[in-house]
Amino acid sequence: MNILITGGAGFIGSNLVAHMVRKYPDYTIVNFDKLTYAGNLESLKSVEGAKNYHFVKADICDKAAVAKVLSEFKIDSIMHLAAESHVDRSILGPEEFLNTNMHGTFVMLEAARKHWSESEPIEAIRRVFLNVSTDEVYGSLGAVGTFTEASPYAPNSPYSASKAGADHLVRAYFKTYALPTVITHCSNNYGPYQFPEKLIPLMIMNAIEGKDLPVYGDGLNVRDWIHVDDHCKALDGVLHQGRLGETYNVGSDNEWENIRLVRTLCAILDEVSEASPVKPHDGLIKYVKDRPGHDQRYSIDSSKIKSELGWEALIGFEAGLRSTVKWYLENLGWCQRLRSGEYKDYYSENYKDNA
Ligand code: NAD
Ligand code: DAU
Repeated sequence: MNILITGGAGFIGSNLVAHMVRKYPDYTIVNFDKLTYAGNLESLKSVEGAKNYHFVKADICDKAAVAKVLSEFKIDSIMHLAAESHVDRSILGPEEFLNTNMHGTFVMLEAARKHWSESEPIEAIRRVFLNVSTDEVYGSLGAVGTFTEASPYAPNSPYSASKAGADHLVRAYFKTYALPTVITHCSNNYGPYQFPEKLIPLMIMNAIEGKDLPVYGDGLNVRDWIHVDDHCKALDGVLHQGRLGETYNVGSDNEWENIRLVRTLCAILDEVSEASPVKPHDGLIKYVKDRPGHDQRYSIDSSKIKSELGWEALIGFEAGLRSTVKWYLENLGWCQRLRSGEYKDYYSENYKDNA
């Protein structure tokens, strides 16, 4: 099977590419990524030399580049992750979010439709366009309730609106053209290789550098956290067994108020970070102005994927959080190169043949 993964140099993408390359040595895995500020090929060192792995630097909005990669590698299935992903950036500048997340997804869908209509139908090969989306398309919950696949769309940020728009196009391509699509809606991911603009790595990095830990509003907003490895296994399951035209919610029943999570991270760092300039770390917590349109609470009901595909989240939060903190402490060079911008040189230095 030949699989295209878009956005494979990002946080979830790089974990997914590594998972797929290792688990399926007989597949061809092609990572298609523009290498925006969020794309980092250093995160893929572990699979760089693998025979079944290929990297293509290109933009999902570039029709010719997308058509070329689909035909050159005879792509059977697509796991579409490429996106602008950070809510705060979408508030500061929504246009790139609409371009990449909506127009880019349209280009991918149209190219897949053309490519598969021109490809020989092979019964044994599964063709899927898996659109990796987010629970944020459902909007915000109050103190009770949970998002199911039947929850109405009600996005509140330019980011979530652009992801919702992409989902609607995916649905339309299934209904109108019978394109073999599936959508997933996952909750907040954490784990290795997450860009330190997102809550957990930002707090870890700021804390060990003795900087303020900015908590938005009253800190009582709730997020439902899942380890990225569990998400990757869910995507693998949906790719192979998900019912076409369906949506699957993915989460790990793990709701935390932001302030409680930040305090827990501080307590772990008090134990394990000997070199921190300020201890206890929770002395660095600073309540700051709230995010505009800040969703109050997310909660994901994953019973459909559990019952249909036998998937379940296996990584407990306590263990996952500790291993993530440890990973960041052991990979300070990775973070420092991100912060200095030096990580951008990795492509030209290590992918000379592609450059
Ligand atoms: P990320 O920002 O870490 O990575 C995004 C990747 O997409 C980067 O490698 C970037 O270079 C690439 N990219 C951006 N624009 C591109 C373009 N025009 N052409 C080609 N590549 C492009 O994002 P992430 O957190 O890994 O999220 C991946 C996907 O999963 C996104 O679609 C996001 O909406 C979704 N998602 C994320 C989470 C989460 O908690 N992070 C949860 C649910 C769903
Ligand atoms: O729910 C899935 C979504 O989770 C994904 O679709 C997005 O791509 C991903 O970025 C994430 O969105 P959030 O907005 O929930 O994640 P973020 O890490 O930005 O923020 C988590 C919570 O922490 C949120 O309530 C805002 C708050 N926060 C965030 C930052 C960066 C703070 O209080 N302080 C901060 O500095």
